[in-house]
Amino acid sequence: MDKAVRDAINQQIKEEFFSGYMYLSMSAHFENGNLPGFAHWMRLQAQEELEHAMRLFDYMNRRGGRVVLHAVDQPPAEFGSALSVFEQALEHERLVTGLIHKLYELAAEKGDWATQQELQWFIAEQVEEEDSAGRAVDQLRMAADDSAALLMLDQQFAARTLEGEGETE
Ligand code: FEO
Repeated sequence: MDKAVRDAINQQIKEEFFSGYMYLSMSAHFENGNLPGFAHWMRLQAQEELEHAMRLFDYMNRRGGRVVLHAVDQPPAEFGSALSVFEQALEHERLVTGLIHKLYELAAEKGDWATQQELQWFIAEQVEEEDSAGRAVDQLRMAADDSAALLMLDQQFAARTLEGEGETE
């Protein structure tokens, strides 16, 4: 495996763990604000991010590349209103999409077809991730300052299940 591709995948593993860490911090933020449905949604999102990291971890091992784990940055602890939290989540997903696309470009440049194939899954997944965060932002914008609407959304978000388990988001 090309060294630049290997290093970039190791970097992406860290980014996925960081995403998990950030969503877990968002979950704690919602727990603290007594919005258990949003907290649950973020907790599941964190779990999905760990699965993304492990997917790359397993791929690298299958290819005989060396996984080197990097230090994971500290996520913020405060995120503001529910709308602001999901806006930050959407912004973060857009950033991750950019990273995945860059990684794909690198794999193409190095003629690494297998990595390109593996990344196809991530490219499709990012469309889903941006869609679900974007939908949440839209719904929270509609709720605006209506606390009854906010509580209803919180209940709705409590119904989220993990991807592949009859999901609602
Ligand atoms: Fe692993 Fe949310 O992208």
